[in-house]
Amino acid sequence: MDALSQYEGFFAEFYDILHSSYDADLQMYLGLAREYGDPLLELGCGTGRLLIPLAAAGHEITGVDLSRDMLARCQEKLDIEGEAARRHVTLVQADIRRFELGRKFNLIMAACNTILHCTATPDLLAVFAKAREHLADDGVFVVDFCIPNVKAMIESSGEEEVFEVIHPVRGTRIVDTYKASFDFTRQIETIHTHLQEWDERSLIRSARSHTERGIYFPREVALALRYSGLTIAKTWKGYRRGPLVETSQDIVYICRSAL
Ligand SMILES: C[S@@+](CC[C@H](N)C(=O)[O-])C[C@H]1O[C@@H](n2cnc3c(N)ncnc32)[C@H](O)[C@@H]1O
Repeated sequence: MDALSQYEGFFAEFYDILHSSYDADLQMYLGLAREYGDPLLELGCGTGRLLIPLAAAGHEITGVDLSRDMLARCQEKLDIEGEAARRHVTLVQADIRRFELGRKFNLIMAACNTILHCTATPDLLAVFAKAREHLADDGVFVVDFCIPNVKAMIESSGEEEVFEVIHPVRGTRIVDTYKASFDFTRQIETIHTHLQEWDERSLIRSARSHTERGIYFPREVALALRYSGLTIAKTWKGYRRGPLVETSQDIVYICRSAL
């Protein structure tokens, strides 16, 4: 579970730029927060893509993340958001496999593929055990992740992809050169990323990262949840709470403590 380089410095900023308008899952989490109530805990809260709108809606939320740079960007955005949202938020820099907050939560979330950073099974079990330990008796732990699209993975494995984004503040060009390879024996995705920021024809900065992510199928995650003392109360296809069908791309497990 060595995900940090992907979330440091230029990469933290790039994550924030790339995901600033992504909110496909937000309504689902706002609905769950209304349903199960405060306090909320987000594991791997990152730059606050979900945490900030949840706090702005009046929810009391704690965000845990290992990356100082992701948390710093989250804090910067909270400062802009103002006192109303800020006073509902606690940010904690810690490893989601081994944190201790000394309190229980009604809704715990591991959103947006965060669990895929658990490249080894003991990492996944450790995160789930921590979620269960911090879960209130009537609370739910929500995990969402992409179902591996094996055909697309095989076809794209080792292929370099390049895409560009315009920096929303500076107007510079960010070029992301991205190569993912999939090892189905180890069930590991290896990602090489090269980021460059260009002002007209001058290179302003560049950074490289090498990250591994786990490849998990729904049944494996379900088994790990059960092994960690959690029962799956509901399974949804994607973020619209639909039933799981053959073509589902995202899966959401709503779990309760088994005891
Ligand atoms: C895919 S991002 C998701 C961020 C945010 N939840 C969102 O929906 O935009 C995964 C986050 O998990 C964090 N992370 C990865 N491994 C971690 C670990 N072992 N402990 C704490 N945070 C971790 C990363 O720093 C990153 O911010």
